[in-house]
Amino acid sequence: MSVKKAKKPTIQLVKGMKDTLPDDQQYWQWLRDKVDNFAKNYGFGRLDTPILEFTPLFKRSVGEETDIVSKEMYSFVTEGGDKLSLRPESTAGVVRAYIEHGMVNQPQPVKLFYIGQQFRHDKPQAGRYRQFWQFGFEAIGETDPVIDAQLVIISHNFLKELGLDVEVQINSVGDANCRPQYLKVLKGYYQNHRKELCPDCQDRFNKNTLRLLDCKNTRCQELANSAPQMVDHLCENCKEHFMGVLEYLDELDITYSLNAKIVRGLDYYTKTAWEIVETSEAGKLQSLGGGGRYDDLIETLGGRPTPAVGFAIGMERVILKLQENKITPPTSKPLEVFVAQLGLEARKKSMSLFEDLRREGFQVAEAMSKKGLKDQLELASKKGVRYVVILGQKEIADGTVLIRDMESCVQEVVDFRKIKSELRKRLDSESVRLIKVKKKAL
Ligand code: HAM
Repeated sequence: MSVKKAKKPTIQLVKGMKDTLPDDQQYWQWLRDKVDNFAKNYGFGRLDTPILEFTPLFKRSVGEETDIVSKEMYSFVTEGGDKLSLRPESTAGVVRAYIEHGMVNQPQPVKLFYIGQQFRHDKPQAGRYRQFWQFGFEAIGETDPVIDAQLVIISHNFLKELGLDVEVQINSVGDANCRPQYLKVLKGYYQNHRKELCPDCQDRFNKNTLRLLDCKNTRCQELANSAPQMVDHLCENCKEHFMGVLEYLDELDITYSLNAKIVRGLDYYTKTAWEIVETSEAGKLQSLGGGGRYDDLIETLGGRPTPAVGFAIGMERVILKLQENKITPPTSKPLEVFVAQLGLEARKKSMSLFEDLRREGFQVAEAMSKKGLKDQLELASKKGVRYVVILGQKEIADGTVLIRDMESCVQEVVDFRKIKSELRKRLDSESVRLIKVKKKAL
């Protein structure tokens, strides 16, 4: 009697995590290449920090009372007793590295960028994951508003140049000099409306008053719309700085609006704070990135008082928006030659031919595990390859190959030793033809 084996249960993806499949990789490559290109032009050097840091780093920088630290961190204690967390954001790690590597001794500002995974145990939904990627740019060691403006411009132009409709929403959140006074005024205002606040905001009232302004609850939003604004309570220094940033932005071709409710979900901000929102018809208004100045953070983390400003953009959200808006990555160099084989001897020889062509710089493709020519030609056609080199028993005996033009279906016998020059000749004349067609179309 045969015993039926029970099917093993499948193990699924962890909630809030995401696989990136081959078809989507072109979007990721596009973004990574663009980040590298912006960094090169604006003079930012790449810094990779670990995904794990000591938990107090985030408590001290992002803030104990923020949702990110109080509710969303993946924290644990190691067997050795270390309290560690998966990073929920990267600015804290960048500042730690700036201090630890004595970058204060380098010419300031030190301009750094990163691309990396972040972890937040948030409620998963479209565009919100528990593991997600950000790229960010940080300029440490400069107070001049020109740097704030430059970072706003980088974050804006990056998304604009991808083809997205975006707008910068900007505010100033003041500094240790003027914000306490403003918070008193804000608390006074909300005191009269306390019962109308959502349960989360009731809690925030004492712990994080500023964040009452960016709650998504309808009644809380109505209250926030009529709340006193930080910009009306800025000290002279903060006011002058903010005006300076806006003056630079006015000079440039970017869409921005003042939004008194931009307070950001992290405690380290001072002065300038902004978010980039997507404004197309296709989607709801959603923040794709955000940033701001954090002049007190370096000192909070044990360094010398050092001003800084930066931003980060969520990469999954950007890709989602690109796809929603049917914006596709520029096509990479197309495949030029497919090496097809028939029979064991031919397969052996075509393996080394494939390597040879690849090393010579041809864009080659193959399907060595396939035996039938029909299958291989179908695959070549699916991949959009223009020329197929066919090697069979007869060609091996004759010292030749067949070059098949997939467009005209014409096959020519070519001397095996001349294969590279013959392919080059055909590909070159093809690219001349394409240039002519393009010119004609213009
Ligand atoms: P943030 O606003 O917390 O800022 O995050 C920046 C961006 O990361 C968001 O605008 C969003 O696109 C993306 N993001 C945030 N949470 C998620 C999530 N759960 N799933 C997918 N994407 C998400 C920061 O992290 C600051 N460190 C930015 C900064 C750099 N400030 C100064 N320098």
